[in-house]
This record gives sequence, C-alpha cells and structure tokens, in this order.
Amino acid sequence: MIGTEQQKALLALAAEARSHSYSPYSHYAVGAALLTEDGEIYQGCNIENASFTPTICAERTAFFKAIFDGKRDFAAIAVIGSGETPAFPCGVCRQVMAEFCGKDFLIITSNRDCTEVIVKTLDQMLPCSFGPKDMP
Ligand code: THU
Repeated sequence: MIGTEQQKALLALAAEARSHSYSPYSHYAVGAALLTEDGEIYQGCNIENASFTPTICAERTAFFKAIFDGKRDFAAIAVIGSGETPAFPCGVCRQVMAEFCGKDFLIITSNRDCTEVIVKTLDQMLPCSFGPKDMP
C-alpha cells in the first residue's frame, strides 16, 4: 500500500502526462501515471481518433507501454481528468487492470485541479471480475 505522499507524487506525474493528451474531439484530456512493483513509473495520456473507435484511454496507454517493457507487476495508478469531479477508469481499462493486477491494486483518481482525490482498490472498482484465473 503506498502512502499519501507517494499518491500525491503519482498524481503530479499524471497531471504532467495529461499535457500530452491528443483529444481534439472530446476536449477531455486525461493523464495517468502507473507505478510498477519495482518502483518504475509509466505515464500515459488519452489519444483520440477521427474514427472514434481507435481512441485509447490514458490508463491503457500507460499499461501498454509498461507491458511492452516487460513489466508485469503493478502497485498503483493515478488518473487525472479534466472535469470538476474525479475521472474513474472506464470499464475497458478496468478489465485491462484485471488482466495484470491483483485485487489490492490501487486506483487513485482526481479532478482537474487535484482538489478532490478518491482512492479505491481494483476489487472495489471491478468486483467479481473475469480474468486469467478463469481461462483454461
Ligand atoms: N478517457 C480516459 O482516457 N480515461 C478514462 O478513465 C475515461 C475516459 C478518455 C477517452 C476519451 O479520449 C475521453 O476521455 C472522453 O471519453
């Protein structure tokens, strides 16, 4: 479990990542910072597309960068949106988290100005999940 100071530091990196967002359609920039169990941090932003479907969320950008680098164990992710309320990861991103993370994986979400922070475990965000354990 990471402490409050580390959560704040992760949120600051998520805010920095948000500035890389390509979101000309929704105008809703999102940033994420993913902490691996071995202490590395991977940043991600949402990247949209004129054809909409190829759009990728900030969380998955961060995860896929880390997976490409061979990382498989994750401690926490911070996510910061552009709205007045904290941005919770979408269902697709939660499912990607369920592929690689345990029930205690921490999701730290915040609103635009970082004035409201919510911390939940993956199990709270996606209970009764389907995952690798269910596959033959
Ligand atoms: N988005 C994220 O990047 N992460 C979330 O947790 C929610 C939604 C993005 C996708 C799209 O580019 C924009 O926010 C609006 O849905």
